[in-house]
Amino acid sequence: MDIDRIVEEWKLLYELGIAISLTTDLKKLLHVVLTAVTIGDGLGFNRAAIFLYNRPNNTMDGVLGVAPDSIQEATTIWNSLRNLDIRGRMASWLLNEINIEAQLNSNFNKTISKSRISLQKDTIFKNINQKQAFVFDASNLGGDDQILRELNFEQFAFAPLISREQPIGAIVADNFYNKRPIEQDDITTLFLFANQSAIAIENLMSIETYKNMSKRLIEEQQNLIHQKHIFNLGRAVADITHEIKNALIGAIGFLDRARKISADSNPQVYQYLEIVKKELDRVYNLTLDINRYAKGQNRSVKKIFDLEKLILDTIEAIKNINSSNIQFITDLSEFAKYLYGDPDQIKQVLINLIKNSTEAIANKKDGLIKISTYKEDKFIVITVEDNGGGIDIKFLPYVFKPFYSTKTHGTGLGLSIVREIVQEHNGVISLDNFVGKGAKFIIKIPNLVEEEKNEKKDNGSG
Ligand SMILES: Nc1ncnc2c1ncn2[C@@H]1O[C@H](COP(=O)(O)OP(=O)(O)OP(=O)(O)O)[C@@H](O)[C@H]1O
Ligand SMILES: [Mg+2]
Repeated sequence: MDIDRIVEEWKLLYELGIAISLTTDLKKLLHVVLTAVTIGDGLGFNRAAIFLYNRPNNTMDGVLGVAPDSIQEATTIWNSLRNLDIRGRMASWLLNEINIEAQLNSNFNKTISKSRISLQKDTIFKNINQKQAFVFDASNLGGDDQILRELNFEQFAFAPLISREQPIGAIVADNFYNKRPIEQDDITTLFLFANQSAIAIENLMSIETYKNMSKRLIEEQQNLIHQKHIFNLGRAVADITHEIKNALIGAIGFLDRARKISADSNPQVYQYLEIVKKELDRVYNLTLDINRYAKGQNRSVKKIFDLEKLILDTIEAIKNINSSNIQFITDLSEFAKYLYGDPDQIKQVLINLIKNSTEAIANKKDGLIKISTYKEDKFIVITVEDNGGGIDIKFLPYVFKPFYSTKTHGTGLGLSIVREIVQEHNGVISLDNFVGKGAKFIIKIPNLVEEEKNEKKDNGSG
């Protein structure tokens, strides 16, 4: 290279370097780099593409290609640039005048930007670790370089993008339209420019990663604040309802005394007090439900317990309260006799589901509630099923929502408490609904009985 050419080259790299270092957006930087590689007053290639190294996938991902789509378009661009004569103001031209939209819309870019080449395969991109640029031709292409064959790359320049000793990608460029042979000088300049670009690209990628990370951190923090809010609100509601509950117990106690006294002496007052008592009972139950809901999952005590016994006892207790002739059927598998969980909470689940079923079949003569348990994969499954006509399809999306009820005296908390408890046991609840026939609630809770036993054993022996 003669001295004039060296000076020219350094002037060019200096100007391009300014453009690169003043670009603060990664996407725009890629346009600046490839435009510099393709304009006549720059490195003068006809077409150029950038592939970035995707470390987790071990692939080279095409991110941008800059090229005219036809020889006519190429000639038009070359003529207009020749007239503009941007030498000496290259940096400002690159920063302000690139038609990004047009570059993105080219067919060349569309093909490049959806390409992904695995580095496990037979590809020239394996050369990204080399600290030099190459001139390749079609015979150097690997069996898995279809994308470059498809784009008719014959003689082309290949420059790895290396930043801080690490490969981050590669630039591929050729003279597809004017067929000008690629010379050693072209390769040297491209190699120097690729090194400059690589550092800038890597810096902006790091900033982008950092920006994404802080965005995620902020989101997580906001989530936490929100959770804490809900938690505090729940605690406040639990405290308030606890106080109301205590006051109600006192009031209902005295009300009962007044009722008894008035029973014989004043039937009219007795009748009024009866209504007051009914309403207060309702408020009391509501308070209990809200209190339980607000306490939510905070106080569960898990252990291995006899699920079969819990189910049979619960049914017995419900039978005693419900005088109606509901028939209970059980199908309890010996493989699901025990469950690891909070027995009080699981009892609550059973009560809420059975209560719904009894309400659904209240007006039926042949009302039936079936409770089954079985083992399925790593889960213990509990189902509660009735023949109470099921749930109207239009109400289905709401039944698990708190305070949703189709009943005059329902609080609508039953099923949302159930779901809350099931989730607290890392389980899932689903519903098989047979409109006109009945509803079947299916609860699957991870079967941790064996693990829990082993853990106990380990702790005991250790
Ligand atoms: N087994 C069932 N058969 C038919 N509909 C049901 C059944 N279980 C629940 N539903 C419907 O889902 C709604 C919500 O049930 P959920 O238990 O949450 O509240 P609720 O029973 O109305 O009130 P409460 O909290 O006082 O029990 C019910 O109002 C009812 O419409
Ligand atoms: Mg209910």
